[in-house]
Amino acid sequence: MEALFRKKSITALLAQADDKEHSLKRALGAMNLTLLGIGGIIGAGIFVLTGQAAAQYAGPAIVLSFIISAVGCAFAGLCYAEFASMIPIAGSAYTYSYATIGELLAWIIGWDLILEYLFGAAAVSVGWSGYVTSFLRDFGVNIPAALSSAPFSFDHVHGWAATGGIINLPAVLIIAVVTGLLVVGIQESATINDFAVFAKVTVVILFIVFGVSYINAENWRPFMPANTGEFGSFGWSGVLRGAGVIFFAYIGFDAVSTAAQEAKNPQRDMPIGILASLAVCTVLYIAVALVLTGIVKFDQLNVPDPIAVGVNAAGPGLFWLRKFIKIGAIAGLSSVMLVLLLGQPRIFYSMSMDGLLPPFFSKVHPKFRTPHVTTMATGAAAAVLGGLFPIGALGEMVSIGTLLAFAIVCASIIVLRRTHPDLPRPFKTPLVPLVPALGVLITVGQMFMLPWATWLRLIVWMAIGLAIYFFYGRHNSRLAAAKADDWNK
Ligand code: ALA
Repeated sequence: MEALFRKKSITALLAQADDKEHSLKRALGAMNLTLLGIGGIIGAGIFVLTGQAAAQYAGPAIVLSFIISAVGCAFAGLCYAEFASMIPIAGSAYTYSYATIGELLAWIIGWDLILEYLFGAAAVSVGWSGYVTSFLRDFGVNIPAALSSAPFSFDHVHGWAATGGIINLPAVLIIAVVTGLLVVGIQESATINDFAVFAKVTVVILFIVFGVSYINAENWRPFMPANTGEFGSFGWSGVLRGAGVIFFAYIGFDAVSTAAQEAKNPQRDMPIGILASLAVCTVLYIAVALVLTGIVKFDQLNVPDPIAVGVNAAGPGLFWLRKFIKIGAIAGLSSVMLVLLLGQPRIFYSMSMDGLLPPFFSKVHPKFRTPHVTTMATGAAAAVLGGLFPIGALGEMVSIGTLLAFAIVCASIIVLRRTHPDLPRPFKTPLVPLVPALGVLITVGQMFMLPWATWLRLIVWMAIGLAIYFFYGRHNSRLAAAKADDWNK
């Protein structure tokens, strides 16, 4: 029983980060980290889900959904910032919980983060495929539907059904390309990410700046359409469900923390990267939501490319922007995959260094100094998921998994302030325990807005994880080998 709560001491964690044989290359500064965060954030959420959430759940009040979701993320972001500055080790929430609550919970959260990162990359690859297929169609190149759609569809009324598709080939291909890039190097990946972030942020700003003058205030009336009688369908419950859905749009700022071991000055730069990227995206999202629902009546936004529909609705004056929007979305979604597929292997790497996963997960390429084996294994798994499953089912798994991780991180801040009050904290979450407690409340509340089928999948996923831990990790844990007492100072 005690073994399940064995903890790594923070001193041991920091020493492990200096292990030369397995060390990663420290190449990222505050600006790189902020761009990494923005790279992970702006993607399928804003380019695809905003319109659908406005049309189905909240109307123009989707703006309020964005604000509510941002508040929850800000609380979680402040907690991540404290951890990332205090324990700047690859592995993110997994590592933090290993130091605070113990091995079993660390394993649970590590296993849960696969939902955020690996499933997240797969979900975004499906969105990418949609935009690329549509972009190519504009130039007369048609990819057959059988080769650009998943063989299965899913909705909460009818369940699973065959679509006639064979495989979503563009989704598989983009995952392969991004994986290849990540094997070659962290610096190369960060440089390409910087360009992609520049492209997508430019497009989003162009949309806001040029869209403002086409707003017709009539489209904002009623700002919050009356509830239809069904929970979640407009009214305040619709705003809350909208917040649960567009939570996906904010995921990614926490990915900054997975690159802690590759940051030049993590104590100072981790909090900057996490909080600045979240702040920039929050402002952009609220502005996009206002402009979009001001140009187009919300009920016309239930489409895969709502921003492009917004540009069309503005009239010929904005037609020049259409192609740029698609290019921005394609670049934007690529960088989200890049960041997520960068994060996942670094979490596996940490779990493997601790003995909870087999040693090949922590192999580092002798020349590129990247965790190449686990990067390729992650890419292969994401390609299979992206090739076979629809974005909706994948996206909901991502949301529930990430919300759970955020809740655990917020709770761990409260625990660690009590158990290790004297540890140096270069960044401190303000108003503890209020801020982390509200973080737990909002994230758990958002989990309850998600459908039962998603909960069921989460439970099955976690059961598989626990089985692996009890058959493998528990016996191979390095902490177990090193005698808990030596570490447990
Ligand atoms: N926040 C990321 C997106 O919207 C996951 O695509």
